[in-house]
Amino acid sequence: MLDSPDNYRIEYRSVGKQFVNIQSTGNHDEFIIAVKEVDLAVRDGEVVSLIGPSGCGKSTLLNMGSGLYQPSAGDIYVDEERVDRPNAHVGFMLQKDLLLAWRTIRKNIEFGLEIQGVPAIIRNERSSELLEKCRLSGFEEHYPHQLSGGMRQRAALARTLAADPSVLLLDEPFSALDAQTKMILQQDLAETLAAEKKTALFITHDLAESVALSDRVFVMSQRPGTIIEEIDIDLPLRENPLARRHDWQKDVAVYVTRLMELLHVGELASEVEI
Ligand SMILES: Nc1ncnc2c1ncn2[C@@H]1O[C@H](COP(=O)(O)OP(=O)(O)OP(=O)(O)O)[C@@H](O)[C@H]1O
Ligand SMILES: [Mg+2]
Repeated sequence: MLDSPDNYRIEYRSVGKQFVNIQSTGNHDEFIIAVKEVDLAVRDGEVVSLIGPSGCGKSTLLNMGSGLYQPSAGDIYVDEERVDRPNAHVGFMLQKDLLLAWRTIRKNIEFGLEIQGVPAIIRNERSSELLEKCRLSGFEEHYPHQLSGGMRQRAALARTLAADPSVLLLDEPFSALDAQTKMILQQDLAETLAAEKKTALFITHDLAESVALSDRVFVMSQRPGTIIEEIDIDLPLRENPLARRHDWQKDVAVYVTRLMELLHVGELASEVEI
């Protein structure tokens, strides 16, 4: 537990990031400002999603949170410690599962623990527990190519959880999956996050997903991306998104409509020539 009254697990303070523009000529700017003045914080145990137009800097924010990139302005803190390099306090999961092809599923899940020097017996206990939680029991000796896309993402989630990170950063973890598998995985993720009492910040383009899975949604503007709205999802059943969608259908739809308005989805649609 943290001393801070707000109990933040991850906190972005006035974060900005610019990249050198490789197309820079007299006509183009020397820098691309990806994000600017981003203030965003996730409390202990909260699940927060981040939505915004393509190219607004969502992945850039998560990459900085994971320590892969350094901000050009401002600072990011995990458990009140400044993030200045990739570290085990942050678990990062991407659209592509990045499992190691030559390792079994169990060995993939244990990979981070192995690097940390955790003894085999403890690694084994932890991976068995996660194999069960992520519904992969019976597949521990399989290799990634022997699993479906949904199962591979579950294995990637188990691997991310294995090191017991303070915060999980998930960059469109389900966007490469078909609609049905995606719903099952959303359910798995929500249940697992609740059971493990984990804090998560995740990016999605799926507005209904953001409402079904989150406590709060942060909405970003076009690039240079900044937070334009923060919406509390005041609905029960965060640990059970299928039930939330079912029992609170109308409320979910109202939130989705509000998010569409903020993202100007209607205006964009009316610009499309049919
Ligand atoms: N390593 C990099 N070098 C140069 N420019 C980059 C780099 N990473 C991102 N950018 C630029 O920063 C901007 C934000 O990119 P980012 O990938 O964060 O957007 P995004 O919101 O995740 O988009 P999407 O929804 O399409 O995934 C884009 O203009 C992108 O071209
Ligand atoms: Mg992205």
